[in-house]
Amino acid sequence: MIDFKQQVIKILKNYITDLGEGEISAMLETPPNPEMGDYAFPCFRLAKIFRKSPQLIAEEIASSIEENEHFEKIQQEGGYVNFSIHKPTFVKEVIKDVLSKKDQYGSSKIGEGKNVIVEFSSPNIAKPFHIGHIRSTVIGNSINRIYKFLGYNTIAINHLGDYGTQFGKLIVAFKKWGNEEEVRKTPIPSLLKLYVQFHEEAENDPTLEDEGRMWFKKLEDKDEEALRLWQWFREVSLDEFNRVYKMLNVSFDSLAGESFYSDKMERVLAMMENKNILEESEGADIVNLEAHNLPPALIRKKDGSTLYITRDITAAVYRKETYDFYKNIYVVASQQNLHFQQWIKIIELMGFEWAEDCVHVPFGLVRLEEGTIATRKGRVVFLEDVLKKAIEKTKEIIKVKNPNIENLDKVAEDVGVGAVVFQELSNNRIKDYTFSWDKVLNFEGETGPYVQYTYARAGSVMRKTDITIDEDINTSLLTDHVTMEIIRNLHRFPATVEDAQKKNEPSIITRHIIDLAQAFNRFYHDHPVLVDDEELKKARLAIVASAREVIRTGLTLLGMNTPEKM
Ligand code: ARG
Repeated sequence: MIDFKQQVIKILKNYITDLGEGEISAMLETPPNPEMGDYAFPCFRLAKIFRKSPQLIAEEIASSIEENEHFEKIQQEGGYVNFSIHKPTFVKEVIKDVLSKKDQYGSSKIGEGKNVIVEFSSPNIAKPFHIGHIRSTVIGNSINRIYKFLGYNTIAINHLGDYGTQFGKLIVAFKKWGNEEEVRKTPIPSLLKLYVQFHEEAENDPTLEDEGRMWFKKLEDKDEEALRLWQWFREVSLDEFNRVYKMLNVSFDSLAGESFYSDKMERVLAMMENKNILEESEGADIVNLEAHNLPPALIRKKDGSTLYITRDITAAVYRKETYDFYKNIYVVASQQNLHFQQWIKIIELMGFEWAEDCVHVPFGLVRLEEGTIATRKGRVVFLEDVLKKAIEKTKEIIKVKNPNIENLDKVAEDVGVGAVVFQELSNNRIKDYTFSWDKVLNFEGETGPYVQYTYARAGSVMRKTDITIDEDINTSLLTDHVTMEIIRNLHRFPATVEDAQKKNEPSIITRHIIDLAQAFNRFYHDHPVLVDDEELKKARLAIVASAREVIRTGLTLLGMNTPEKM
């Protein structure tokens, strides 16, 4: 693929000796309107050096540049020199690149040899996997895929919340009021009920709290009964989580959650002691973070028990030692900002310069549209129910649109789940958003179903012909405005993926794919593809095939499936 940007830099470099290639590259802009060109070089900075107006400089540069095969127009406009890529060459290069690289188009090797940990989902055992957890799961899954696509060696970790005093309480509640059969049948709702009951009863009977602590202590001391019950709670919870992960196409490389660090904390506490950062406060150990404008962090309670933050510090040390990570990414709600600031600061105070490679990737809240999903008091919305409802609703829509469809169940699952995932990744992750069924399942709006439908439509055009689709086409037939929109979009795709990775922001890809689907549908509307003119047909089919390829790659990076028919 010709690197057109590099060509622009090379040309400019001949006329501007005062700036390095890197500087020129950083200065290049994209003109607001593609009719003005593909690259714009602003001359405002040069005005100071040459003591001339930017317009005059732009004019001088533009007029002295010789003809160049790669650009059909190089001209001054205001204080800019604008470069328009020679369209047939542009089309040829892009199509050739997409069709030869196929599902690897946009991938790269920039991450080769670098280990990146992406920690996401991390639900709490014996608690519902609710609609709030979907954010971490879906955003993290996509980030993991994006890094992988760019050659990083990723390690997806589910840091399960499977440890802490609450498990002592749960054991007590189960022993007093629990029923094995019930827990087996409906694990999480039953465990949740026991947990709630514990807190209600503990208000009148404070000795329950002591009992809970005692049972957690037993768990820490590896008491057989405590261990057996805890393990069982963990197992049945995981079974439930796994059903959801399966629907979402999500998998992990490691399930090392909080309990995994139970025997590793002593060593890390000793490291902190050696660095003299632990202070005693009313019998407990804290790290004073006043000098860093943060509240003190409680690291060990006065009864010797450890906390959530102790396990995070220990986990980070373990991960560095085990994976020697390049980046250690945490996809966790912005409500935990303070927690992350505290423990990452503590890692720094422990003398680990890799503290700066621990990255908290926060996200905002999901609100539920009034009346959309029943949130009666005391009842949480289970993610599994949301996904199931999405699948059911999708099934109804598809039955009307395409009554003869094969594999209705599978398609409804791909589209229903995809719709929820797509909506989740449509907005900048830090924004709070409101979950709305109408928005999620609209086949016309900027939604998952719309993009998947566009993908299926492109495939159905291709199935109607037996012409071999390749890059051997007359690209001068493809230089109109609507087609060029697709070409420019495809050309930007690799840079878009890199941008999404740098910002840990999958919505950048979502946006790109919506634009591509819209451009494709305009193209499809304006240009009949299966025309009699073989040359034109072949050229247009190459556009269809290329757009289809990149839509699929984009959706795959978001964690979605792409049904061939819907
Ligand atoms: N289990 C926690 C929760 O549901 C999230 C864990 C986030 N990850 C971490 N390393 N602290 O709130």
